[in-house]
Amino acid sequence: MKNFKNKVAVVTGGASGIGFAMAERFSAEGMHVVVADIEEAALDAAVDRLHKVGSSILGVQTDVSDAGSVRKLADETMEAFGRVDVLCNNAGVETGGTFLGIPERAWEWVMDVNFFGVLNGCRTFLPLLAQRDEAHIVNTASVAAFASGTATMIPYCASKMAILGLSESLEVELRTAGSPVGVSVLAPGPVKTNMPQAERNRPADVPAASEPARLATLERLSQLTEEKGLEPSAVADMVMSAIRANDFFILPHPELALAGVRKRLQWMETGQPPAIRQAGT
Ligand SMILES: NC(=O)c1ccc[n+]([C@@H]2O[C@H](COP(=O)([O-])OP(=O)(O)OC[C@H]3O[C@@H](n4cnc5c(N)ncnc54)[C@H](O)[C@@H]3O)[C@@H](O)[C@H]2O)c1
Repeated sequence: MKNFKNKVAVVTGGASGIGFAMAERFSAEGMHVVVADIEEAALDAAVDRLHKVGSSILGVQTDVSDAGSVRKLADETMEAFGRVDVLCNNAGVETGGTFLGIPERAWEWVMDVNFFGVLNGCRTFLPLLAQRDEAHIVNTASVAAFASGTATMIPYCASKMAILGLSESLEVELRTAGSPVGVSVLAPGPVKTNMPQAERNRPADVPAASEPARLATLERLSQLTEEKGLEPSAVADMVMSAIRANDFFILPHPELALAGVRKRLQWMETGQPPAIRQAGT
């Protein structure tokens, strides 16, 4: 995409962290921005803050795991602005534990939000995006899409690998068909956001994760993010550049992503499994 002024961007999980930073960035670019989030109070506060950057902001309370809710998001976007040019499927959550310690509902919650949330966004918005001369989808995965093995994070890792598989395959299909819709996958390492508190949004029937191994992972990841995390605004700048250049991979921490891929390649080529790693390394 080359032109952004007066175009329309929809950002899920836009009330906090990376999503909020993308909304801010798009707004500064002169776009109309639709911020979708499940957390009502945070959404209202985000819309108020965004009004200071740009005038054309719409907040829509949305649960991305619910296809009907995403349909409503699309309807309200079309009613307000009559078009959609950029879709960022960014909402994500995380919970986990040791494999047999993870309840079924926890698995469902992570897969429903992270994977089916992205799928619902793509399925619902693609026909609208395809009406434009140029349009773009950005799906937020994680370095966990390349690097498995972080203790207690199996559902998150599986959901993010599924997003990568969906995004790569969708990109190829759309490019083969000559579609005007480009696709990118955003795969960050640590970013300073509210992700360590992701369980704040868990449905009432999803138990809070409490195994000591799990709490230790969270502690280590929080510390790592505090020490080495990128600012969300830096990630948003990379997203903006990637949409402009139609780059598929958006890798704010390329060294982590590539290290994950190299480990897998070595494992496949030599049959030797990678060394056991600590969470967050
Ligand atoms: N922060 C990191 O270090 C990091 C690293 C890699 C990937 N990511 C990914 O970045 C994305 C954004 O997360 P963040 O780090 O900004 O965290 P965050 O918690 O600050 O923001 C996530 C937002 O998603 C919203 N959300 C949660 N469930 C939702 C649902 N069902 N429907 C709609 N909105 C929902 C939350 O309310 C929140 O506003 C996520 O997909 C996350 O997995 C984050």
